Amino acid sequence: MATMLDIRNLTKKYGPFTVVDDISFSVESGEVLGFLGPNGAGKSTTMKMITGFLPPTSGTAIVCDSDVIQNPLTVKTRIGYLPEGAPLYEDMTTAALLSFVAETRGIRGSDRRQAIDGAVDKLELDEVYNQRVGTLSKGFKRRVGLAQAIMHDPDILILDEPTDGLDPNQKHQVRELIRQMSEEKAVVISTHLLEEVDAVCTRAIVISRGRKVADATPADLERRSAYWNAVSVRLPHERIAALQGALDGLEGVERIEIDDKRSASAHVIVIPSQGAAVVDAVNQRLKEREVAVDQLYVERGRLDDVFRQITIGENVQ
Ligand SMILES: Nc1ncnc2c1ncn2[C@@H]1O[C@H](COP(=O)(O)OP(=O)(O)OP(=O)(O)O)[C@@H](O)[C@H]1O
Ligand SMILES: [Mg+2]
Repeated sequence: MATMLDIRNLTKKYGPFTVVDDISFSVESGEVLGFLGPNGAGKSTTMKMITGFLPPTSGTAIVCDSDVIQNPLTVKTRIGYLPEGAPLYEDMTTAALLSFVAETRGIRGSDRRQAIDGAVDKLELDEVYNQRVGTLSKGFKRRVGLAQAIMHDPDILILDEPTDGLDPNQKHQVRELIRQMSEEKAVVISTHLLEEVDAVCTRAIVISRGRKVADATPADLERRSAYWNAVSVRLPHERIAALQGALDGLEGVERIEIDDKRSASAHVIVIPSQGAAVVDAVNQRLKEREVAVDQLYVERGRLDDVFRQITIGENVQ
């Protein structure tokens, strides 16, 4: 796979504040890289530097062999960028805006019609084609922003919270679109939605206070969760004590959490020590002690748990 994007020691300082601190990574064609991090971590600032909209204090980004500092215009032809909040020309209609973007990107003649129609089709913009952008709902503004980002079929997509404000159907559709496009492109998306990382990302980078604190596949991140390989059990409340007694001292079990006490059945989570596979042992022990359960399944780890672990305090890996 070809390296499409090579980020080298990107740093941004505002006065005494370092908001992006020496971030390096590369992205290959076919990858969808999720950019995660708390509010203010530096995700949007990093994206603005990669796309040439903000000069770095130091470091650079190499985009398809072009240096963003030395060749910002070449870089802009290779990148499709959806900025945070998608600032758009509010007085233009969707049609005029897409036509204007096509013009500035140098797409002419029949190619222009094709590019606009393709983007309108992919983002389902027919019904707002002749509407002024300023009067569009938040979700439609986002979709117009995405349409302008993909119109010139760029090699690299940098999408800052692409599904923010979209309804569940559109979220699904945009994720599908990202997945399809990623086959021959490199895609970087920032998101606060951890389910999005699972749904579309092949890799995730976590940024905290301007620094890269994790770079792994979503599955590897999930494995760092205390809930990785945990066994969830649902059973009537009155059998909790029997379950606790049955599992007491069982090898590989670190602790037992009791969840949603107020629902009709109790949810008990058996946390293994160091991700050990304990489901068979748990199952067997419950059968031996005749503790009947309604449901029993293995958890795969929780990204939100890992995200908190990595980004709160100095607990950095
Ligand atoms: N022009 C500026 N002057 C001073 N500080 C700035 C400037 N622009 C951004 N910052 C600061 O840089 C930090 C990083 O902001 P950035 O927008 O990159 O965060 P983010 O990770 O995208 O957050 P969010 O999840 O809220 O979108 C923030 O603390 C922000 O206040
Ligand atoms: Mg941001």
